Amino acid sequence: MRVVPMKALLDRAHAGAYAVPAFNVCNMEMMQCVLKTAAQEKSPVILGIHPLEVTYFGGAQVAVATAKALGQDLDIDVAIHLDHGDEEHLVMQALRGGFSSVMFDGSSLPLEHNIARTRWVVETAHMIGVTVEGEIGTIGMTTEFGERIENAHLSDPVSAQRLAETGIDCLAVAIGNAHGFYAEEPRLRFDLVEQIRERVKIPLVLHGGTGIPTDQIQHAIKLGVAKMNIGTALRYAFVSAVKETCDTEPVRDLALMTLGRAGMQRMAEVVRDYIGIVMSNNRMA
Ligand code: 13P
Repeated sequence: MRVVPMKALLDRAHAGAYAVPAFNVCNMEMMQCVLKTAAQEKSPVILGIHPLEVTYFGGAQVAVATAKALGQDLDIDVAIHLDHGDEEHLVMQALRGGFSSVMFDGSSLPLEHNIARTRWVVETAHMIGVTVEGEIGTIGMTTEFGERIENAHLSDPVSAQRLAETGIDCLAVAIGNAHGFYAEEPRLRFDLVEQIRERVKIPLVLHGGTGIPTDQIQHAIKLGVAKMNIGTALRYAFVSAVKETCDTEPVRDLALMTLGRAGMQRMAEVVRDYIGIVMSNNRMA
């Protein structure tokens, strides 16, 4: 596999009217499953690693070394991306560890602070060719069972333009999407995407991919989304397969490998589905 700056993948996707999936991974099994499935589907892929996931890996260096070792025989382009880095020291750790992309999430800050701190990250990361994603508005969290979307603020197009002027390579937008399971079918605000599009020409990023209907995802891609994040659906697939295996196999026969394999197998189906939905398959040929 080739570790490339995320910008290279997104610019290609933007021109080709598809999106690159960014799958959140927190351990070796998830990472292996994403890389192998992406290679089978000939899809470029982004490994999204949240700061908590970086810590769980044992640090940025470990995450990058693991990805490189797992992918050494695979013929795909991969970006290793820090998801939702909200402090400069987290960004610096990712840069030092060899990530090829970072998100600076200043979405909870007053606009001027978000702009100033994002600009610093852009100047720093671009010195070594690392891609930067910014966020405007706040992508909310659904509660665990999807009853409510909390703390969401839709993106304001003028603020989006101002953040884009920092030199970020792509922009995460809040357009009715949220992290976690949706209680009801989400309705993305395409009118807002169009207004943002008039002012912002860089690729847009859609977070909260789990549970957004295919037609809405593909319409968002037509309007300029070139990266889509998926996390909850993968964890749900993995954990439910592990749980079912625990419930059905006699405990004395349970090897950790049996559980890991069951998790990866179920998760691979979800990875394959999303690669199809964002139309990134057969883009490495
Ligand atoms: P979901 O967990 O809702 O798929 O969202 C993932 C995400 O956006 C990570 O940044």
